[in-house]
Amino acid sequence: MTRIIFVDDETRVLQSLARMMRHMRDKWQMEFVDSGEKALALFEHQYYDAIVTDMRMPFMNGSELLDLVCMRYPETLRVILSGQSERDAILRSLDCTHRYHSKPCEADSIVAMLTDAFNTLFSGNSTLRSKLTGLRELPYRADVGAQIKALSRTKSDSLAELTNLVSHDVALTIRILHLANSSFISAPGEVPDISSAVMLLGQDGIAEVNDIVHARNVSNFGCSSDVDTFANDLGEHSYRVACAAARIAKVEKCTTAEIAEIFTAGILHDAGKLALLACMETSYRELLAQCIHDQTDAEQMEQMIYGFDHAEAGRYVLSLLGISKSVVDAATLHHRPSKHSSTVFSAAAAVHFADALFRGNERTQSNSGTQFIDMEYLHHIGCADRTESWQYEALRGIYE
Ligand SMILES: [Fe+2]
Ligand SMILES: [Fe+2]
Repeated sequence: MTRIIFVDDETRVLQSLARMMRHMRDKWQMEFVDSGEKALALFEHQYYDAIVTDMRMPFMNGSELLDLVCMRYPETLRVILSGQSERDAILRSLDCTHRYHSKPCEADSIVAMLTDAFNTLFSGNSTLRSKLTGLRELPYRADVGAQIKALSRTKSDSLAELTNLVSHDVALTIRILHLANSSFISAPGEVPDISSAVMLLGQDGIAEVNDIVHARNVSNFGCSSDVDTFANDLGEHSYRVACAAARIAKVEKCTTAEIAEIFTAGILHDAGKLALLACMETSYRELLAQCIHDQTDAEQMEQMIYGFDHAEAGRYVLSLLGISKSVVDAATLHHRPSKHSSTVFSAAAAVHFADALFRGNERTQSNSGTQFIDMEYLHHIGCADRTESWQYEALRGIYE
């Protein structure tokens, strides 16, 4: 049975939570305690799948509690259930919190949020959970961070320029979407694309997230040039894929909102690589070096060594943070779109095509990426006759 601890210093709130969750007792074993100290004491005797905590509490606040839970019990899902007024505390807790939920709230919305997160937590290879649930920060590009800082000092108020800068960094894009989809900013899952997220948070909000991600990167990854180079290369590859996928979406006459979501899916399609680099450290660096030496694809070796590949790692990390389903699907299926249940054009098709094209191009510096394209799938979704214009649009301007 799934085990959950709810923590809130107000007895009245705890009682109300216990009442609201009563109907879940046959599925979830739940404990309700009024302090972080009591929650940690419970953990010493029993493993818990999730902890749901208030933020503002005496002695130990929610962020400090989740920080300790993340260090000691990294496989536990970490959720903050708190009032609207604690934006600064929320920003500081970004790296140790999977989901945020505001209170007061209805029982149904907490149950739906937890059920959705558990679907990810209990899915796939057990190594995924043990290695990736405790992941706090992904390597990011210090050069992009510095440009965002410089832009925020000029107070130019150009959100388009800011979105373009953010889009060059995978880790920052994830963190901004994570925050924008927390219930403190909007309804969870309601902000699927990075330009809407930047617009919602504004220049000051992005500058704050950038400062936090920068500080965490310095303390987690130091000044490793390997990690820097990897984050830079991945950022550039992902941006190219995102631009190409968005152009393909235009050929398919998608709406502006759909194009923005497909662009975001392109940025995040290889997020699993960053997650593996952060969690597997040396072993993943060696794997990547071997792949470059052998001119082979990382996913085969990832499967062989870890039992899952970076597409699966990306699915796990992104969906645990509540990133939108279409973006998660595109990341999950970017190598194997035929596993998609959709029989029409989608973000997964555009991202697969763009990524396959650039995979070959980046390796050989020629237009030979077509060998990686799953033409059977494109026939299946009725897009095969347009791949020439897709290819023309995808490559237009990029290698000129
Ligand atoms: Fe990939
Ligand atoms: Fe890729």
